[in-house]
Amino acid sequence: MTILVTGGAGYIGSHTVVELQQAGYDVVVVDNLSNSSEVSLQRVEKITGKPVKFYKADILDREALEDIFAKESIQCCIHFAGLKAVGESVQKPWEYYYNNISGTLILLDVMRKHNVKNMIFSSSATVYGNPAFIPITEECPKGEITNPYGQTKGMLEQILTDMQKADPEWNVILLRYFNPIGAHKSGMIGENPNGVPNNLMPYITQVAVGKLKELGVFGNDYDTPDGTGVRDYIHVVDLARGHVKAIKKIEENPGLEIYNLGTGVGYSVLDIVKNFEEASGVKIPYVIKPRRAGDIATCYSDASKAKRELGWEAEYGIKEMCEDSWRWQKQNPNGYAE
Ligand code: NAD
Ligand code: WQD
Repeated sequence: MTILVTGGAGYIGSHTVVELQQAGYDVVVVDNLSNSSEVSLQRVEKITGKPVKFYKADILDREALEDIFAKESIQCCIHFAGLKAVGESVQKPWEYYYNNISGTLILLDVMRKHNVKNMIFSSSATVYGNPAFIPITEECPKGEITNPYGQTKGMLEQILTDMQKADPEWNVILLRYFNPIGAHKSGMIGENPNGVPNNLMPYITQVAVGKLKELGVFGNDYDTPDGTGVRDYIHVVDLARGHVKAIKKIEENPGLEIYNLGTGVGYSVLDIVKNFEEASGVKIPYVIKPRRAGDIATCYSDASKAKRELGWEAEYGIKEMCEDSWRWQKQNPNGYAE
């Protein structure tokens, strides 16, 4: 089976390509490299020992997509391609709506023209907003989304749901990721943010490697055990394996399904600092800062539906997440830049 992976050179995409190849799938990657490097795919080839078929193309480029679908016998698409920086999306809403929404609409149109109607979509726990209840099941109502990035995820979920309803030949799996961290065990691929990281773990690893002075902890007055924000961190390799399980599900023609991909365990910012220090042996200096706009106190999943229906559950704990994030950062202080 040949899988089209859009955004396959990125953080989650590259780890997923590894797992797909190791599970015996043929993979075709489309990425415009706007937030990634082709080096990640060269590293994937080293890890798996298999070549990765790569097209440097934009999903907004209909002709390029038509060409790829004509050449390759694609049966299913895992759609990672998109812009994902929450803060930037507030500054550049048009760019986010255009890239994420228009790009996906073009992709979906080319897919249906070529009768490829199997789609696994990268959604996010962000669609729950400030969740109505914890742990969050898939039945939890969608909440108020406070930024354009998150809006694109909510809107694309709706678009895919409506298309599947109108044409039941479509199989659509919406995967709602919680907070992916960690890296491949080899230390060869990992998260490679541009500029100063927005997310917690890459910020911590850059402090550890000496690129940043200290961590700012955004608020210690939340209604949580230690006052800092609680999240459901999930190892990116576990997350990647969830996609392989989702493909197996797609092969059963499920129609529309939604799955949370998380561990079901919540850790605070200070828990992460402590666990990282233990895993790395490096002290992480931090200062308490005001709350970050748009942040919520607590967010963690009930991931039992994915266990029941996909036979998937996270295997790695916080120790491995911290060790593997650290190995990647230490071996690649400048990411993929040579
Ligand atoms: P990433 O930026 O590393 O990967 C996204 C990839 O898409 C990049 O390689 C980028 O170059 C590519 N891309 C963007 N726009 C494109 C376009 N128009 N045409 C072709 N390629 C394009 O991000 P990631 O962390 O690997 O996230 C992958 C997906 O998962 C995204 O859709 C993201 O919104 C979603 N997601 C991520 C997280 C997270 O915390 N990392 C959480 C929930 C959901
Ligand atoms: C985690 C915790 C911060 C940085 C974001 C997106 C979400 C999804 C995953 C894509 C929070 C605290 C952080 C720092 C800190 N992405 N923090 N100092 O906000 O849960 O989720 O990424 O879909 O949509 O919103 O992740 O890693 O930014 O923050 O104290 O320098 O760490 O306040 O409590 P978040 P994060």
